[in-house]
Amino acid sequence: MRKGTKRAAVWLAAGLLTGGVGVGSCLAAQSSSNLIQCPNFAEGEDILAWSRDQGGATITAESGTEPIYGDVVTYGKITGRTSNYECFSQDVTDLVEKDKDYAYSFYVMLDADDYAGAPAAQRTVEISPYITADGSTTYSQGCSGTVSQVLEPGVWTQFTGTYTPSWSGNMEEVVIRILEQGTNYGQGEGVKGTYYMTGMELKVQGERETVIEMDVPRLREAVPQDIGEDFIIGTSIVNSDLKDVDTMALVTRHFNAITLGNELKPDAMFGYSNDRCPGTETVKLNGKDLTVPKLDYSRAERTLDAIYDWNQSHPDEIIKVRGHVLVWHSQTPQWWFHEDYDTDKPYADVETMNRRLEWYIKTMAEHFTGEDSKYHGMFYGWDVVNEAVSDGASRYRNANENSSWWAVYQSNEFIINAFRYANQYMAPEVELYYNDYNEWVTNKRLGIEQLLKDVKEAEGTRIDGMGMQGHYQTTATPNMTEFATAARAYAAIVGQVQVTELDMKASSKYDGTEKTREEEFAVQGRRYKELYDTVKSLREEGVNITNITLWGVVDKNSWLQTFNSVGGSADGRQKQCPLLFDDDYQVKPAFWAFADSSKLETPAEDIPEESEEESAAESEPAISEPTVESVEEPTSEESAEPEEPEVQEQRKQYVVIGAVCGALAAAIVGGILVSRRNKKKKDQ
Ligand code: GLA
Repeated sequence: MRKGTKRAAVWLAAGLLTGGVGVGSCLAAQSSSNLIQCPNFAEGEDILAWSRDQGGATITAESGTEPIYGDVVTYGKITGRTSNYECFSQDVTDLVEKDKDYAYSFYVMLDADDYAGAPAAQRTVEISPYITADGSTTYSQGCSGTVSQVLEPGVWTQFTGTYTPSWSGNMEEVVIRILEQGTNYGQGEGVKGTYYMTGMELKVQGERETVIEMDVPRLREAVPQDIGEDFIIGTSIVNSDLKDVDTMALVTRHFNAITLGNELKPDAMFGYSNDRCPGTETVKLNGKDLTVPKLDYSRAERTLDAIYDWNQSHPDEIIKVRGHVLVWHSQTPQWWFHEDYDTDKPYADVETMNRRLEWYIKTMAEHFTGEDSKYHGMFYGWDVVNEAVSDGASRYRNANENSSWWAVYQSNEFIINAFRYANQYMAPEVELYYNDYNEWVTNKRLGIEQLLKDVKEAEGTRIDGMGMQGHYQTTATPNMTEFATAARAYAAIVGQVQVTELDMKASSKYDGTEKTREEEFAVQGRRYKELYDTVKSLREEGVNITNITLWGVVDKNSWLQTFNSVGGSADGRQKQCPLLFDDDYQVKPAFWAFADSSKLETPAEDIPEESEEESAAESEPAISEPTVESVEEPTSEESAEPEEPEVQEQRKQYVVIGAVCGALAAAIVGGILVSRRNKKKKDQ
């Protein structure tokens, strides 16, 4: 149910949503999404924008007393025409995209005296764009709707329709004309009289007002005010989000940082060519030739360009970027690990993989963070290594747990080297992170602690923080003692902790209907508040937590909604509601947990104080819960390129390992386990 919603005007669509349109159009798009300059000939608008084909005629801005439409009284006047082709026209070359639909609308009036008594053919006004491509010009193509009308002199008449520019070859220019051209396509008789126009709009078709609430606090203001000035409140987005006006309106309004959900992962960088290497080239690395796979920057740049454009035009509302991720066992094609990038051949040797790793990190770092990079200065941090610790035991993830990195190295050398190369090549202001899930589970936490120490102590490395992913559950794990224990432990080693992929899986009661929604949302809101309060209290005690990033914006697009063929973190059958904004882009109680928790119905319970024994006793049974995720070998299906890679997120490949859970469960006092299970059932 939407209540009291002030709707936001569309103001970002063209720039943010098309990514490649460029800064110019983005700037135009901020005040409105109208691509036309000087649409009303109002004071302050640049009338020269209309001069492209005025020839020897004169164009002036005029003002009347009666509104022409809405409350607009201003209009343009073209007079002194000596050719039928002299008209109002505007160059939109850099603003329009091929084969895209643009809605147009404008008003024209013929001068009552000049056109009095003229035959219909000489009172015909039309929208007549022309496009030059590969040196040849095509006229009057691509418009539908009211393209051409016979006007009654002295009467304002509206034109509306759709313009779909299209061309083949190299486009040189696209010009829109509002033309009264007499007969025979301008070459016959014509009045060449004075006429007037105003109110021209040209907008990406389908644009509409966004539905987001404008009368709620902005998280990017409320959270830093509450918790600390430099605090990052972020979200992940994928390229398909760029096309969603409402999602992007929420992103730009509420978040001061984004993580690219997929586009900077190795599989995306290799063009989703998962089955075979997309082609190679030879580069020099440390003076020696190295054959490397071709990189495809296009997907990552689509999002980065949109954010770049936003930042250029909103210097006071910068959105920073988290790089994610350089080294990961998942979403990395198998051929990357093999001799000659060929899965029919054996694994490459360690020396070869070290050189590949160095090249990959160097190239990514220089391309995206180097002094000469367009994106220099945008990245605040980068997940250098993701999920390299075992789920079942306090040790590194090995080859049996799906790590081809481990299969090649049989040691943590690739992790150490990744942090060495990142330190060497990444711009110094970009913080370097290790990132993992189930990071609150005691056994896994101990493994992560070891990893952080190993990286920190190794020569030539830099590690600036630990990314606690935070894929949590609304009514179950973790409890806040477990969370706090983990945060303290990591901060003690690497100095800084960030929550990097926060979402909450629904309780078993939630079925997506109105009936269960209210209760689930309320419980979830309190859970988010509990977490946020814990983060605040940890900061007060000196634990340096500097970021909470949500894994997605609106519930319906969360990765948790989708079925995962090997189990996954959600079964795809149960509806999920893991984020701060609902399916209709409206704020949920979870939003208020951050924006103003006094709006939540019931205050959350006090944050439990940590005690050594308590934390051990609490976290052990959690391992034996059937929520613990582990990893198995990917099927060929999963490693295949998704049809729409930016839409279709490849999921982490988790399964419950019954054997591991069973063994651990057996080791735990049965009574504790039973009582916790009962408690959990009650909670749900
Ligand atoms: C992990 C990864 C993310 C993403 C999520 C699920 O946590 O780090 O990149 O794949 O799983 O969407």
